[in-house]
Amino acid sequence: TTVEWEAESYDMGGHDTYMHKEISEQADAVDRVLRGRIDDRFATVHLGGLNLDAREARAVRRVKILGCGSAYHAGQIGAQMIEELARIPADAEPASEFRYRNPVVDPDTLYIAVSQSGETYDTLAAVQELKRKGARVLGVVNVVGSAIARETDGGVYVHAGPEVCVVSTKCFTNTAVAFALLALHLGRIRDLSVADGRRIIDGLRRLPGQIEEILRGEERIAKLAAAYADAKSMMFVGRVRGFPVAREASLKLKEVSYIHAEAYPASELKHGPLALIEPAVPTVAIVPGDDLLEKNRATLEEIKARSGRILAVAHVEQEKADDTIVVPANEPELDPVLLGIPLQLLAYHTALALGRDIDKPRNLAKSVTVE
Ligand code: AGP
Repeated sequence: TTVEWEAESYDMGGHDTYMHKEISEQADAVDRVLRGRIDDRFATVHLGGLNLDAREARAVRRVKILGCGSAYHAGQIGAQMIEELARIPADAEPASEFRYRNPVVDPDTLYIAVSQSGETYDTLAAVQELKRKGARVLGVVNVVGSAIARETDGGVYVHAGPEVCVVSTKCFTNTAVAFALLALHLGRIRDLSVADGRRIIDGLRRLPGQIEEILRGEERIAKLAAAYADAKSMMFVGRVRGFPVAREASLKLKEVSYIHAEAYPASELKHGPLALIEPAVPTVAIVPGDDLLEKNRATLEEIKARSGRILAVAHVEQEKADDTIVVPANEPELDPVLLGIPLQLLAYHTALALGRDIDKPRNLAKSVTVE
């Protein structure tokens, strides 16, 4: 079954492209993934359909998250959140790699398959391989009743609504929030305190308003996009929480503007990629106001010293950067949800400036349902 939303059946709501519509409706989409799931009494969340009771959740010794493309990047953010809030070792891997490497399946590991369409063949094949080897697999999926949703033992629907544009935006954001809910749920079954549970819940509730605040800055981001659209290539760098944000932003720019882009952990630059830095290769740096702020500022200096242009996405203006997009700060664990949103708009407006086919970029399909 094809799950490509029949574009004609969804109006654009006055927007010129589905991508712009879907970027613009992220505050409402995040409202939907939160709706009815927050439990203030126990500072936790209820995830009906997870099919994982507290005793089973406490027995989990590690979490392995699988997905492709943006789903993989959202899974990286989710792994970070699960480690931070539930203190369970967690990591993400491309489903397409996992399925071919004859993986060692561990009965104490909880596997999570991430997919907007729920039909991506590589991800579905990874789920089937896991089930064949007796693993417990959950799904974090957008399309209700899709193949991956049906194949997994339970999961969390992300409720982003139809995502028509080939380039994922609102579903990526909702998937990251769905992982925050899952991490909070697992954390409060274990050792996350009531106070921390309440802190995360308050942060979750601030997200929709903060998303709207970021989207109000679109005009300036469009001007920045025009200024950087002549780049022959772009580097995206971030540390720890910032790295998956950099990876997703790099993918966004590549797939919709066709500008070559690479994402690197900021600490890796000096091990080779710095050689690429020159005025024609600007760097987008993710600079949260977290405990790595000084390390990230040192990276800006490294790049500046090599005459690289820098566009920083940060919580405060970065004097070492040529330009800064300031993003409202939430709780450190939830900041990755917000830091990438301006870069969705940067990719969109860069593609607009270059006259690209935004909703259907060349060579791409919305859901890769074949090998
Ligand atoms: C996202 O912008 C891309 N279009 C692509 O990487 C996508 O995320 C990937 O193909 C996975 O699709 P899925 O979430 O439907 O499984």
